[in-house]
Amino acid sequence: MEGGGAYNRSSRVQATGLLPAVAMLEAAARHAALEPSPRTIVIADYGASQGHNSLLPMSAAIAALRARVGVDRAILVVHTDQPDNDFGALFRTLSDDPDSYLRNDAAAFASAVGRSFYGQILPPDSVTLGWSSWSVQWLSRLPGPIPDQVQVAYSHDPAARAAYARQAAEDWHTFLTARSSELCPGGRLVVQTMALDDAGEFGYRPLLAAMYAELEKMVADRFLRPEELGRMAIPTVGRSRADLAAPFGPARRFGSLSLESLDIFGGEDQVWARFERTGDAVAFGREWAAFSRASVFPTLATALDGGREDPRHPAFPNRLEAGVAARLAADPCPMTIPLAKMMLVKDLAP
Ligand SMILES: C[S@@+](CC[C@H](N)C(=O)[O-])C[C@H]1O[C@@H](n2cnc3c(N)ncnc32)[C@H](O)[C@@H]1O
Repeated sequence: MEGGGAYNRSSRVQATGLLPAVAMLEAAARHAALEPSPRTIVIADYGASQGHNSLLPMSAAIAALRARVGVDRAILVVHTDQPDNDFGALFRTLSDDPDSYLRNDAAAFASAVGRSFYGQILPPDSVTLGWSSWSVQWLSRLPGPIPDQVQVAYSHDPAARAAYARQAAEDWHTFLTARSSELCPGGRLVVQTMALDDAGEFGYRPLLAAMYAELEKMVADRFLRPEELGRMAIPTVGRSRADLAAPFGPARRFGSLSLESLDIFGGEDQVWARFERTGDAVAFGREWAAFSRASVFPTLATALDGGREDPRHPAFPNRLEAGVAARLAADPCPMTIPLAKMMLVKDLAP
């Protein structure tokens, strides 16, 4: 994600898309098995980024737990992300945002882990509640080049599609294995993620078309070399209902985890709703371009010949953002936002 707090400022699409999963997290908090007092209750937030979008789900989970354990029991929220995440912005959000659970609950505590969630990062049997939103669509590595797009869902290259599908299946398996170890017996995990809808659609079609067209223009204008565009790829996938359920098999079981529920749903397109209300095409283009910039432009910029040290590194996101915004403003249209939410439960006894 783009640092300097940019993700916090430009992730309204994500903030809206995670809302339907918050009710699931509250239900998980009402039903998760709790260790006897005074053991601290641990909530893990996998892929927290800069923290703003975690405040609502964490506060909701804490409120549901408070109804069970009272105001004095210690609750520790562990926010996890990659080592190069903007943890400074995360801690400032936790300390300064009026909606922070730290400001509103004297027995709530926060900590952070800077390690990939594609491995065990918390002690065995330590997490009562897990939450992950908009994060597990990120693969553990780039499976390879995408010759005709930056998002594999819109590639026509069979080798690229197969490599991404293989990596997606492997990563999902790895993620579940690690979480099944970390969850307490009777603990629960709620995952919200990008998905394929039941027609196989990844969504964001006009946005990705605008992004790729603008990158091709940068090549035509000799701002990028064709080899650099060839290396640019966003290592994210939308998983289908079948992909997400696959590790669990027909009995909906994966080791000690049960798949209690899995829904595919359409995220609300509030950017389009605002455009319909205001008719402001420029704001429409600007909002989707800012969403893309904060989420994926830093990944694309790693393909520049000089990486972060490349002299074009500062100009690249500005130019791409302006181009994408202008293209979308010229022809505003609704975006489909396919999402999944699921609840997993760990067995009470081994
Ligand atoms: C789009 S942000 C989601 C932030 C927030 N949860 C939300 O709902 O808006 C995705 C986050 O997942 C993190 N992420 C991606 N792969 C990860 C991994 N392997 N381990 C930990 N975090 C990861 C990214 O660094 C990023 O901060």
